[in-house]
Amino acid sequence: MIINFVLVFQLFLLCASAESVPTLKLLDGRDIPAIALGTWLGNGTQGRIEAASNEVELAVSWAIDAGYKHIDTAFAYKIEDQVGRAVTKKIQEGTKREDLFITTKLWNDAHAQDAVVPALRRSLEKLNLDYVDLYLIHWPVGQFNNLSYDFTDYVDTWRGMMQAKALGLAKSIGVSNFNEQQIDRLLENGLEKPAVLQVEINLNLQQPSLLSYCRRQGIVVMGYTPFGSLFPQKALPEAPPPRVDDPALIAIAQKYNKTVPQVALRYIVELGVIPIPKSLHKDRIEQNIQVFDFSLTQEERDVLKAFDKHYRTIPQWKWLDHPYYPFEKRQKDLVN
Ligand SMILES: NC(=O)c1ccc[n+]([C@@H]2O[C@H](COP(=O)([O-])OP(=O)(O)OC[C@H]3O[C@@H](n4cnc5c(N)ncnc54)[C@H](OP(=O)(O)O)[C@@H]3O)[C@@H](O)[C@H]2O)c1
Ligand SMILES: *[C@@H]1O[C@H](CO)[C@@H](O)[C@H](O)[C@H]1NC(C)=O
Ligand SMILES: *[C@@H]1O[C@H](CO)[C@@H](O)[C@H](O)[C@H]1NC(C)=O
Ligand SMILES: *[C@@H]1O[C@H](CO)[C@@H](O)[C@H](O)[C@H]1NC(C)=O
Repeated sequence: MIINFVLVFQLFLLCASAESVPTLKLLDGRDIPAIALGTWLGNGTQGRIEAASNEVELAVSWAIDAGYKHIDTAFAYKIEDQVGRAVTKKIQEGTKREDLFITTKLWNDAHAQDAVVPALRRSLEKLNLDYVDLYLIHWPVGQFNNLSYDFTDYVDTWRGMMQAKALGLAKSIGVSNFNEQQIDRLLENGLEKPAVLQVEINLNLQQPSLLSYCRRQGIVVMGYTPFGSLFPQKALPEAPPPRVDDPALIAIAQKYNKTVPQVALRYIVELGVIPIPKSLHKDRIEQNIQVFDFSLTQEERDVLKAFDKHYRTIPQWKWLDHPYYPFEKRQKDLVN
């Protein structure tokens, strides 16, 4: 009896935590879960970190166990196969495909309109899926594998994305790292409106005017690099505060019995943005999704708003001379 009761109670807790991730409505009518696991391994001190055999696979499995419904990946991360293995295993164990939301992205080397569908098919093969829930143009900037620029107009790339959706290979389509004018150009051409914009959003880069543009357009925003420069080992020396030991952040976290990373994610959720925290650690993966059972006060949001220093963690200066470079051309010109 007691064992049974414990079991039932544990099941109840499981359901409660699984149900605790809200969704947002996309303009195409579909629901998108309000937080996603990031799967980009990032840059270490020695440059790009190469994927080891199964670390992302483990992270994705832990995430699904912890209640994540949404996984953010990309062809360029070179780990779609690991995401695919984890998802396949979870589906074999009883998770329903339609309860998961998988996002991946078109890389810069496949911007020609007729290259989009074949590129998505390559991603789907690695992911071992028939469709993705969301396919994004990773950057408006085209570049061949030999590093010479591809000047294909991203409007044509978008036509390829619409074909991918019409074929049912992507249920929803969107863009990443596009600016307002670039999204406007898609619309001026009479094309489908992107359902999602994925851009950098964190305490140092809150982008209020871009967010209000997206709200007006009904475009849902996914926020990447949600921790910004919070962790000293990742922060460049010139990166503005806060770090994770900031007293104002610690005070807010203690009030709710939460951690500083959880407060940073909660703030992004309250901006109406889907945060994409990445971690390879089980305890952090579990911690990062526990942000839907508390809310910040207006005073606390004001404290967090004041950290917006228009500082971009991922400016991709290497593409500065590409005609479709999307961002301000110097860090200090960022006025958004
Ligand atoms: N569209 C784009 O162009 C684009 C660009 C960048 C990123 N993204 C997406 O956004 C995701 C997130 O961005 P990101 O990977 O740049 O950075 P991030 O999620 O802001 O930060 C990741 C770092 O934070 C650490 N971390 C995570 N949770 C923590 C916690 N609770 N406590 C302490 N440390 C914690 C991780 O370490 P451990 O892993 O060691 O735990 C890792 O070093 C990416 O993975 C990717 O999916 C998209
Ligand atoms: C990551 O490191 C590579 C190699 O050092 C560099 O070319 C690239 O710009 C870096 N990317 C980011 C987002 O910092
Ligand atoms: C780079 O690759 C593209 C596409 O395959 C090709 O058109 C271009 O000529 C190549 N450029 C160089 C410098 O090799
Ligand atoms: C505070 O949070 C921790 C970690 O989630 C939890 O184990 C603990 O029970 C919480 N304490 C209170 C007083 O709620």
